[in-house]
Amino acid sequence: MAEAKKWVMKDPKRENVFWPTAELKKQAWVSDEAIYKKAAADPVAFWSQQAEELHWFKKWDKAYDPAPYAYKWFIGGKTNLSYNSLDRHIQAGHGDRVAIIWEPEPVEEKALHITYKELHERVCRFANGLKSLGVKKGDRVGIYLPMIPEAVVAMQACARIGAPHSVVFSAFSPESLRDRLDDAGAKVLITADGYYRRGKPIDLKKAAEQGAEGTKVEKIVVVKRLDGSASMKAGRDVWYHDLVAKASADCAAEPLDAEHLSFLLYTSGTTGKPKGIMHTTGGYAVQSYLTAKWNFDLHPGDIFWCTADVGWVTGHTYINYGPLMNGVTTFMYEGSPDMPDYGRMWAIVQKHKITQLYTAPTLIRMLIKQGDEWPAKYDLSTLRVLGTVGEPINVDAWMWYFEKIGGERCPIIDTWWQTETGANMVNNLPGVGPFIPTVAGRGFPGIIGDILDSGGQPTKVGEGGYLAIYAPFPPSLTRGIYGDMDRFKNQYFSDYGPERYFTSDGARKDDMGNFRITGRVDDVMNVAGHRLATAEVESALAQNDKVSEVAVVSKPHDLKGEVPVAFVLLRKGIEPSEEIRKDLLATVNRVIGPTGRPEEIIFAHDVPKTRSGKIMRRILKSLVRDEPVGDLTTLLNPETVDELKKAVGYKG
Ligand code: WT7
Repeated sequence: MAEAKKWVMKDPKRENVFWPTAELKKQAWVSDEAIYKKAAADPVAFWSQQAEELHWFKKWDKAYDPAPYAYKWFIGGKTNLSYNSLDRHIQAGHGDRVAIIWEPEPVEEKALHITYKELHERVCRFANGLKSLGVKKGDRVGIYLPMIPEAVVAMQACARIGAPHSVVFSAFSPESLRDRLDDAGAKVLITADGYYRRGKPIDLKKAAEQGAEGTKVEKIVVVKRLDGSASMKAGRDVWYHDLVAKASADCAAEPLDAEHLSFLLYTSGTTGKPKGIMHTTGGYAVQSYLTAKWNFDLHPGDIFWCTADVGWVTGHTYINYGPLMNGVTTFMYEGSPDMPDYGRMWAIVQKHKITQLYTAPTLIRMLIKQGDEWPAKYDLSTLRVLGTVGEPINVDAWMWYFEKIGGERCPIIDTWWQTETGANMVNNLPGVGPFIPTVAGRGFPGIIGDILDSGGQPTKVGEGGYLAIYAPFPPSLTRGIYGDMDRFKNQYFSDYGPERYFTSDGARKDDMGNFRITGRVDDVMNVAGHRLATAEVESALAQNDKVSEVAVVSKPHDLKGEVPVAFVLLRKGIEPSEEIRKDLLATVNRVIGPTGRPEEIIFAHDVPKTRSGKIMRRILKSLVRDEPVGDLTTLLNPETVDELKKAVGYKG
């Protein structure tokens, strides 16, 4: 293994606390603590100054408008995400730098290198292709693509012409796709004939077609990734390669209002209906650009690998826009981490000389189980910064990542954020630290938040509470839920008022002011880093005609963090069986996709209810977690609890 400098040191006085060395401080964009104070004193001035690093066709008239529920950034300014991702670098003479490296899953297939100039051409052609299909500024475009470069091209092309994209995770079911296309009112859908997953070609076109059925979608653009044998419906379906071949490579980026809707991304709330989170152009650009730069310490020549799927917000911001606005190389891998074996990720780091790796605790835990021999086989010395996101990371996973992957030299940046926040919000900076297992850190400079009790008072050090973010709100914070601004107000601002955004995450702070995020406090689960409402799984199961009632709660899981457990009451006359269990799982698969699959299905005669008939999920949660069930005296049917204790193997 090549010699690599140690950049992180252990705090001699505190256990498991690490600091950047002088060497790392020298390299990092930010190494001075003072930035926090300065930014906090005037967040609007801080963000405005940072915004100057991007290209604006017209500068803003006013930096921030604090209107309740309608806060805005860079009002009157005109910019474009695609211009900032591509044209800006080409104009600076960096067009020959590599923008994307794409590694296909099959090992025998060659990796693809796409320069900024080439990506620019692809994006312009596709943007013109979309225009030729009638897509105009403001029109929503659905994207249902696997991990192929065209996913980035498609998002960039939409951004270029101001057509908000709505990306749907390619493993979501046709029904999930349909709900999202419907809600967004998309007229065009971009998909692929398929992709490779664990060596198997997966047919995506059929799922896309089914999803588009009954929606406003008029045209389906199909990228050829497999053999091109997919059946195409004349008048509706068009091959991507035919479309771009006919299109001009000339397409000026549209100057868009800073507040122009750049994309919708659907995520789970506490109800069965996912919400279309709205993001802007200007504010989103600034925070995506700056957090990517400072948190991962991006410098020219860096090869940044974010392992998320493009279907999640992490993929939007840290595969596509963040790294590209910084002019570095973004690395994309098509497939599964176990193909052909559990060394694939480390083989990739070695082969492509990855400099920053950004991944999720679930994946780390899964790889730990495969043994240390896998990473030990490869040269990982090009890595400088490691990132984690999506769920609380446990100490063991953190330490393994730090020692076995980072060689005790790389800072671990634990970034807390959400689909709603668009970009990173809470984490410590590589040149400032400290890096502490399970602790995300402080708000990014210019982002002010605190841990509050339910009455809205800041909690004391070490005391549990809820994470809230204060106005002036960070530039990339969502501006609302598409078509449902009431839900937006109620969900985020009813707890602490319009000046304090409620995150739905539990947290506590340490004596240095660092936040430790403990997880969701609402009925949203985090299954292998995928956000899912218990209500979504319930409504999926309820679609099965054998089910009369159902309650879903989450339970901790060693690898996946959390998993759903379903309590199912069958209709009269139907007896539980293995066949019914399979049928129920198939229903969830059809309605949500494999991400919604309950880990356990418990057939019950009844579930605990209040006298008004409301299911007491709190009690079910205690039962599956082997925790005290608490007071049962207010229940309508306390006797069910004993029956369920047996069914779940409750030890008490
Ligand atoms: C929820 C948001 C943000 C991109 C991926 C997830 C949890 C996120 C962390 C972290 C502890 C985290 C929170 C949050 N979460 N990052 N570093 N430590 N928890 O986006 O699907 O919108 O989920 O993920 O519970 O609310 P998302």
